[in-house]
Amino acid sequence: MWSPGGAIRSGPTLPFDHARHGTGASQELAFGDNVDGMSLFSAGGRSILVVNNEYVELDTFPRGGDSGKSMTADDVRKSKAAHGVSIVEIARKDGRWSIVKDSRYNRRITADTPMKITGPARGHDLLKTAQDRSGTGANGTWNDCGNGRTPWGTYLACEENFSNYFYSTDPNFKLTAEMKRYGIKGKDEGHAWASVDDRFDLSKHPNEPNRAGYVVEIDPLDSSSVPKKRTALGRFKHENAEVVLAANGRAVVYMGDDERGEFLYRFVSSGRNVEGGNNSDLLADGRLHVAKFADGGRGEWVELTPESTGMKSRAEICVFTRQAASAVKATTMDRPEWVAANPWKPEVYCCLTNNTNRGKKPNAGGDATPVGGPNPRAGNKYGQIVRWAPDGGDHLADGFAWDLFVVAGNPTVHTDAYAGSKNIHKGNMFNSPDGLVFSPNGILWIQTDGNYSDAGDFAGHGNNQMLAADPATGEIARFMVGPRECEITGLTWSTDRRTMFVGIQHPGEKGNSHFPDGGGATPCSAVIAVARKDGGAIG
Ligand code: FEO
Ligand code: CA
Ligand code: CA
Ligand code: CA
Repeated sequence: MWSPGGAIRSGPTLPFDHARHGTGASQELAFGDNVDGMSLFSAGGRSILVVNNEYVELDTFPRGGDSGKSMTADDVRKSKAAHGVSIVEIARKDGRWSIVKDSRYNRRITADTPMKITGPARGHDLLKTAQDRSGTGANGTWNDCGNGRTPWGTYLACEENFSNYFYSTDPNFKLTAEMKRYGIKGKDEGHAWASVDDRFDLSKHPNEPNRAGYVVEIDPLDSSSVPKKRTALGRFKHENAEVVLAANGRAVVYMGDDERGEFLYRFVSSGRNVEGGNNSDLLADGRLHVAKFADGGRGEWVELTPESTGMKSRAEICVFTRQAASAVKATTMDRPEWVAANPWKPEVYCCLTNNTNRGKKPNAGGDATPVGGPNPRAGNKYGQIVRWAPDGGDHLADGFAWDLFVVAGNPTVHTDAYAGSKNIHKGNMFNSPDGLVFSPNGILWIQTDGNYSDAGDFAGHGNNQMLAADPATGEIARFMVGPRECEITGLTWSTDRRTMFVGIQHPGEKGNSHFPDGGGATPCSAVIAVARKDGGAIG
């Protein structure tokens, strides 16, 4: 089990400070905060775990300032270093897993790590900043939510709520329409990064947000490799990136944009995967599509091109992807979270977590959010999982058939559509499905990030949880329940599949849990290891 601040290198660092979570300098050498998407890779019999560190919980983040609330310069350094991605070699001894300190694989990728920009937007004026006048580089990644892994052995970190870190120190600065579409606000939400690093000051560096909101490809086995931001996969609030190979070897990546009334996307690579070959830039070039759902169970992928969108260039489409999707009148969705492809058959699932604006308010681009199709309930508070099967079983097909795998609800409180679909009952109720991962044995694992009040509309839902579903029968069973006030997110397995690693994010975010240390300890996000009592494979 690893929590933020656990050193991944030995040496002159002090023992982990549970009360204050260390300093900026110690955090740069330690496991990051708020664990999210994760994947385990193996190399020469070694296990390398890669974990997103989405953000820090401002209500519980230990600060060094006098008031305990304001961020000092070192708090900002610690915060930036607690974001990003942690790569750690782990090993099992006597049935327990621990970090192999000083492994050559151990690495921290933070909000300051140099990265390369690839794809159609590389070098475009929109990406040129004071720090990089060529528009070909970026510094750091943050708010990486779900993840992906490629068949060629790389890790995909997905930048989600990047907007929350930008603000203006000039009160007269006017946000552009493009900034507003991406949820950028003029005011600091508390991260205070611009107080130390003026990249985050919109009035000084208005192009800086254009370097965030991408999928970042990382080689987990080369700790000196430069991560690559993949503009070809579009810029939005990426949730995860589910990669499948089409029969002809093209890489197909399914991706959700997690914001109320935003869209679901598909990328198809121009090149083909060659087993054992150099696939390192397969995600640099390809076609980007957005989903249009019709009532009656049919849908289509619409390609985003200058012709279809009226935008000037592919580069512009890759930076302002939301606007491109609005231009082709894509279907506004109930916050698309993780996408997962069934390993046993050509079908794909996506969590639509909830959308209180459904049927009430347009999205930030002014697109209507009518009730219907895969978004069937007004003011959707529970969420649903949509699935689609590409025509002819071919992930390159532009047509698909869709249905709703489950509509979450509460049959103990409601008798209408808010009771949920037939496969929801008192024993498996949940709300706000978010994480979604298939295991090779065909089980669909559902993780929730929802209302944990256990009262009113949510009575009986309890804490956030992980459920196991059978895609063939629709049966869903509760598998585990998290500590209070956490979200469960991120899932991967040991190479022998005898251990399942699960992410516990922000336990006690309102002060009502001391997970995992107990006593009066500051609560910490953590990766937990789950194994069967009989030692058999799990998933
Ligand atoms: Fe970071 Fe959409 O969850
Ligand atoms: Ca999520
Ligand atoms: Ca969520
Ligand atoms: Ca979260």
